Amino acid sequence: MHYFQYQQDELYCEEVPIRDIAEEVGTPFYLYSHRTLKRHFNAFDGAFGKVDHLTCFSVKANSNLAILKIFADLGSGMDVVSGGELYRSLLAGTKPEKIVYSGVGKTLKEIEYALKTDILMFNVESLQELTAINHCAGRFNMKARVSLRINPDIDPKTHPYISTGMKSNKFGIDIKHSFEDYLHAKEMEFIEVVGVDCHIGSQLTEVEPFIDALEKLAGLINQLRGQGFAIKYLDLGGGLGIKYDQESPPHPSEYADAIIKCTSGLESTLIFEPGRVLVGNAGILIAEVLYTKSTELKNFIIVDAGMNDLLRPSLYDSFHEILPINRKNKEEMQADIVGPICESGDFLARERVVPKLEQGDLIAAMSAGAYGFTMSSNYNSRTRPAEILVDGKNYHIIRERETWLDLVRGESIPEFLK
Ligand code: LLP
Repeated sequence: MHYFQYQQDELYCEEVPIRDIAEEVGTPFYLYSHRTLKRHFNAFDGAFGKVDHLTCFSVKANSNLAILKIFADLGSGMDVVSGGELYRSLLAGTKPEKIVYSGVGKTLKEIEYALKTDILMFNVESLQELTAINHCAGRFNMKARVSLRINPDIDPKTHPYISTGMKSNKFGIDIKHSFEDYLHAKEMEFIEVVGVDCHIGSQLTEVEPFIDALEKLAGLINQLRGQGFAIKYLDLGGGLGIKYDQESPPHPSEYADAIIKCTSGLESTLIFEPGRVLVGNAGILIAEVLYTKSTELKNFIIVDAGMNDLLRPSLYDSFHEILPINRKNKEEMQADIVGPICESGDFLARERVVPKLEQGDLIAAMSAGAYGFTMSSNYNSRTRPAEILVDGKNYHIIRERETWLDLVRGESIPEFLK
């Protein structure tokens, strides 16, 4: 059962006609289905039900407080990559002992904040970072729990911008000298080594690269155990892909079965950092057609959402299905669906066959729940869209549309210019 469904040619989210929401809050806006979010979390987390594990939602995919609260209440931990994400996660009620902190550029201020909060562990990406964490922990006279993020040099076969576990990427510590780095970590007074971490990329549509990475990590874990390291945690990152178009990614249960099989002898608590697979297909972006125009070469449908609202098509040339909110009109056309931003790269879809759309029609860009709002910006001084959460028959504004006042908040004209 899909929670974005047509009923008599009108698109609904759960039991709410999307048009009703558009009339009240205006467009554009992100729309999330509570039931879908819950179902996705339970499908993922439940697939690992028989093994010791912790699912940490990757906050960068969708960081709205309400979304974080839904996952925290379902027992989720969080994977954070900044002090801001840690702040949000705590505000939404996540238990600190369920928070892992990844990222190549943690600042001292962020490290201190995470130490004071007593999060579960840092996923450390370089020796210098490890030294900085040791130093900070020393000042608080405490031990910082860490895993080293290993770069296993595996090709995840995804878009190059979202591959992270290859030799050429900035992420992690080269598996070749990771053992020596673990030995260094062991010598550090205020560091407690608790695990091994890796994240090889995003939108993976096959299980094999995960398993290849895992096999490399298993070798390292055995070597570390031989040296007396207690590897309590094995963090496998996120990365499981979703269906945007024709992809057929493994179901979480298939992914889980393969991983459980490969990790059965390791006796570590497994940690996962799923983002996209939990929220991607639980959210859509709603926009209104402002104008249509045709040139000799193309039809353009100009909508009120642009690359500042949903950057993925412009940045990765990624596909988002475009659906009309009302599908009564069966006539079709081929068009570029474009936004109001002053850039030719501002499009939601190119050369797409869609039902004939007219001024005032509402459309949905599907599969926009992950890396949609979180990558939005104020480019062209556009206010960022509202976010709405549907729960059965009801809907709630979980983020107000920004105002022009919000746009200039913090700006000032210095005295000498007055
Ligand atoms: N853990 C780490 C350390 C990560 O860097 C990421 C994503 C995740 C977990 C979650 O990965 P997921 O399960 O969502 O694949 N903006 C891009 C995706 C960038 C992913 C960055 N890291 C997009 O819109 O496709």
